[in-house]
Order: sequence, then structure tokens, then C-alpha cells
Amino acid sequence: MTDWSEWHTRYDDPGGRLARRLAAVQEQLRTALDRAAHGPLRLLALCAGEGRDVLPVLRAHPRGTDVRARLVEIDERLCAVARAAAPAGVEVVQGDAGSAAFAGAVPVDVLMLCGIFGNTSDTDVERTVSAVPSLLATGGTVIWTRHTRPPDLSGAVRGWFAAAGVEETAFGTGEGAWSVGAGVLRGPMQPLDPAAQLFRFTGRRP
Ligand SMILES: C[S@@+](CC[C@H](N)C(=O)[O-])C[C@H]1O[C@@H](n2cnc3c(N)ncnc32)[C@H](O)[C@@H]1O
Repeated sequence: MTDWSEWHTRYDDPGGRLARRLAAVQEQLRTALDRAAHGPLRLLALCAGEGRDVLPVLRAHPRGTDVRARLVEIDERLCAVARAAAPAGVEVVQGDAGSAAFAGAVPVDVLMLCGIFGNTSDTDVERTVSAVPSLLATGGTVIWTRHTRPPDLSGAVRGWFAAAGVEETAFGTGEGAWSVGAGVLRGPMQPLDPAAQLFRFTGRRP
């Protein structure tokens, strides 16, 4: 099993693949905040880890103080790191992000699905993408990642988002076989099934 605390230390290599992926994710979050309507904003990050993609952006962005965020992470050590770095308005919830840990926090204006799609089955990726309209408000932004190692699922993921009514606003890949996508929900929202199990995090590595 992956030691997810150790995994986060790889972010500290400024030239490494994870640091470059992180920069791409943070850029998409800044863009989402730049274009968000005035007023309060809600953000949900599933499998949030230490929150490195979200917390520095919220601290620095002019809209950061408008954001009420929930970060869902299962590992208590990572939750503690995230809480220590969290500005006001951010709650870190320890729990299974694949199930009902998002109940009461949705719909949101920004949905972060980063570091999940390479750690669950393809079926669960598709189910999670299909459920985005029950988590995200129409006009809201979803940001996601997926490695591009063979068999590269990123093309299928982009198609599933389109089928769910999410218009792609950005997609990029980088050296080290990562991809980052972002899109805006243009279609209608769907009711949330509170009993839904979106994905089971298997930590499957290629
Ligand atoms: C690949 S890391 C991604 C962390 C963060 N989203 C990022 O991109 O920096 C995956 C994270 O999912 C967490 N995790 C694993 N199973 C989980 C579950 N069932 N619910 C919530 N978090 C989970 C791990 O502890 C780990 O922090």
C-alpha cells in the first residue's frame, strides 16, 4: 500500500512530476475563482490529502475569503497537516470520500477530484464523473487529474465529463505521464442519492 504521507513529500521536489501537476491544478483553481460569480462560494475536495492544491490558493486569492470549503480525507495524519494549514472557512473532515462524506456540503461551486482516478477502477471513475451533476452547481467548475500511463484513460474520462453536461475548459498533460482537466457544468443539476458509493479507493498502482 502507498504511504500517502511519504507520497506528499514528492511535492517538495520542484522539478518533479507531482510539483508540475500541482502547479497545473492550482492554476485551474485560480481560474475557477477568477471567473466565479460574486458572493459566497462553496468548494469540496475529495481525497484531499494535505490540501496542497487548495489551501495555498485560497490563502492567496482575492476570492479566497469568500470560500467555504470541505476537504474530505481518510488519513488522520494528513487531516492534521491540512487543518494546520487551513485558513478560516475550511473544514477538514476525516472520512471516506467515496461515500456520503459530501452530504450536506453540496452542491458546490468548485469540485476537486484530484488524485482519485488513478486509484480506483475504471467503472468507479465513470460512476464518479456521472455523479458530478449531483455534486456541482450549474456553472460550477470541476478539476480532476489522471495519470496517462497505458492504458491511458484520460480520453474516456473527458468523454464521460462531456456526457455528464460538463464543458471542458482546460486539459493538459505533462512529462511524467499526468493529465489535469477542468470543466464547467452547463447541464442541469441532478438530485443527490445520499446512499451513493461513488468509488472505492483501492490505491491500485500500475
Ligand atoms: C493521490 S493522493 C491525492 C491527494 C490530493 N488530492 C492531491 O492531489 O494532492 C490520494 C489521497 O486519498 C486519500 N484517500 C485514500 N482513500 C480515501 C478514502 N476512501 N476517502 C478519502 N480519502 C482517501 C489518501 O490518504 C491520499 O491522501
